[in-house]
Amino acid sequence: MADAADDDLVDYDDDDVVDQTAADDKDAKKGHYVGIHASGFRDFILKPECLRAVVDCGFEHPSEVQHECIPQAVLGMDIICQAKSGMGKTAVFVLATLHQLEPVDGEVSVLVLCHTRELAFQIKNEYARFSKYLPSVKVDVFYGGVPISANKKALKEATPHIVVGTPGRLKALIGSKDLNLSKLKHFVMDECDRLLEALDMRRDIQEIFRTTPHQKQVMMFSATLAKEIRPVCKKFCQDPMEIYVDDDTKLTLHGLQQYYVKLQEAEKNRKLNDLLDALDFNQVVIFVSKVARATELDRLLTECNFPSVCIHSGMGQEERISRYKDFKDFKKRILVSTDLFGRGIDIERVNIVVNYDFPEVKEGNAPTVASDQYLHRVGRAGRFGTKGLAISFISSKEDADILAQVQSRFEVDVSELPDQIDISSYMNS
Ligand SMILES: Nc1ncnc2c1ncn2[C@@H]1O[C@H](COP(=O)(O)OP(=O)(O)OP(=O)(O)O)[C@@H](O)[C@H]1O
Ligand SMILES: [Mg+2]
Repeated sequence: MADAADDDLVDYDDDDVVDQTAADDKDAKKGHYVGIHASGFRDFILKPECLRAVVDCGFEHPSEVQHECIPQAVLGMDIICQAKSGMGKTAVFVLATLHQLEPVDGEVSVLVLCHTRELAFQIKNEYARFSKYLPSVKVDVFYGGVPISANKKALKEATPHIVVGTPGRLKALIGSKDLNLSKLKHFVMDECDRLLEALDMRRDIQEIFRTTPHQKQVMMFSATLAKEIRPVCKKFCQDPMEIYVDDDTKLTLHGLQQYYVKLQEAEKNRKLNDLLDALDFNQVVIFVSKVARATELDRLLTECNFPSVCIHSGMGQEERISRYKDFKDFKKRILVSTDLFGRGIDIERVNIVVNYDFPEVKEGNAPTVASDQYLHRVGRAGRFGTKGLAISFISSKEDADILAQVQSRFEVDVSELPDQIDISSYMNS
């Protein structure tokens, strides 16, 4: 277990309102930079309770993906959507489902599937945030690594209208007849390519899908939707709207500076230490390839008095969530993680991502999986148009090859890390 290379699989096994006139020159420029739309959320004609929550969340203008998707999504259409990291895909399905929801006691109306427990936890919290003015709406989250008896008890006491979870645990709860999806109206898959790429997970999702009514809305989201996975996604949908806000060549984030450092494996710790000393950061995520390396690097950083914490699939689930919360609440400033945190996780203050170990090509994976993984990982910084910095350690020919693929696929220039980097290029003022 300590050496489990694929964290996600291990995890899985258990498993503004602003009106039109506000679109002045200044806003138009900002819009160009981060892809924000001049129209307001009010134009979407959402329930007033949803609009109030949007205002409370501090959202002023919808992003491009929200502008493209929300009007269709609230009509109940099936949607397959690709848009870059950190541009607010979550709010698309959260708002669209809350807007359409007519809560019925004892019936689950919305199901959201995602690939990791921490992401499920995060999405549940987004539902809590946006349903603040809809007190009768009940949301619950179910994932592996915690006693299933607690989930069963929760489901017996009150049926949630919205269920968020990971496939393994949801399948088990359906199998034991504790969870009934026969009245489901909306089926959402976040990080859908990741959910459907591994055959065992895909099979479980198909099984869950089969227990839901034929007539329902299906929505799927990811920053990466390779051509190969699109037909698989479409099989779950009926005449879906396919919205590709950004194709591969436009997926990189404008506010993110990306660099590489060529070094030997044995030089990585020293270099990381120097970088953490030299750079100004709010929060940093450091990606490593294996659980054992996460533990070891975290120990080393802590010994050097860096405020570090690690998270990986080798630790208990309660501990995992508590560490996720500590990092989200800024109690720790450095997080060492395996790919568990590679996708979907949204931590506002992260302005630096370090690929201590570069994404690897694994046997049986499509050739684009490693470069996709790069894109998702670096997308943990530079969220919603903020500035950020991504530094990748390149220590082998394989690393260099994947970096070359990243640069050609996404048309991004990742250059060698200079001796000095202007702080204002990666720190948000
Ligand atoms: N219209 C908006 N105005 C301001 N902030 C927003 C808006 N929409 C979303 N955000 C914020 O932007 C951040 C990123 O959103 P989200 O996590 O939904 O991105 P994503 O597209 O799902 O990214 P990823 O592909 O990495 O999962 C969140 O903190 C969210 O609250
Ligand atoms: Mg997301």
